[in-house]
Amino acid sequence: MAILWSNEYSVGVPLIDQQHQELFRRINSLLDACNQGQGKEKVAEILNFLEEYVKVHFSSEEEFMIKYAYPEYLAHRNQHQHFVENFMNLKRKFEEEGAGISLVVTTNKVVVDWLRNHILLTDTKLGPFLKGRIKE
Ligand SMILES: [Fe+2]
Ligand SMILES: [Fe+2]
Repeated sequence: MAILWSNEYSVGVPLIDQQHQELFRRINSLLDACNQGQGKEKVAEILNFLEEYVKVHFSSEEEFMIKYAYPEYLAHRNQHQHFVENFMNLKRKFEEEGAGISLVVTTNKVVVDWLRNHILLTDTKLGPFLKGRIKE
């Protein structure tokens, strides 16, 4: 089950939207790689990329929040930190059990559902706040 981009995910800040789209693309490659039973190396490569990219993305949002004194910064950052913890558990699961259907199920729960909710409920609150403040 791929995670498809649609306008409802747009937060209105181009950099954030582009990073979200890249996350969606990489998550889909991960799901494809698991579903197609691709080698452990391929899956490991995607997981490593995702880990780094998630950190880059969260830092981008957090830097904006600090710069513009976003009132809900701490709660938002906490959500990011939780995600990183869950993602590390997913990586551990992969290292212990390899890639397969069970990794797909966990990825859908831990990564896809989380990201969807986080963007729709949390990032879409941040977007409008930043929109008038960021100088393009
Ligand atoms: Fe966020
Ligand atoms: Fe985000």
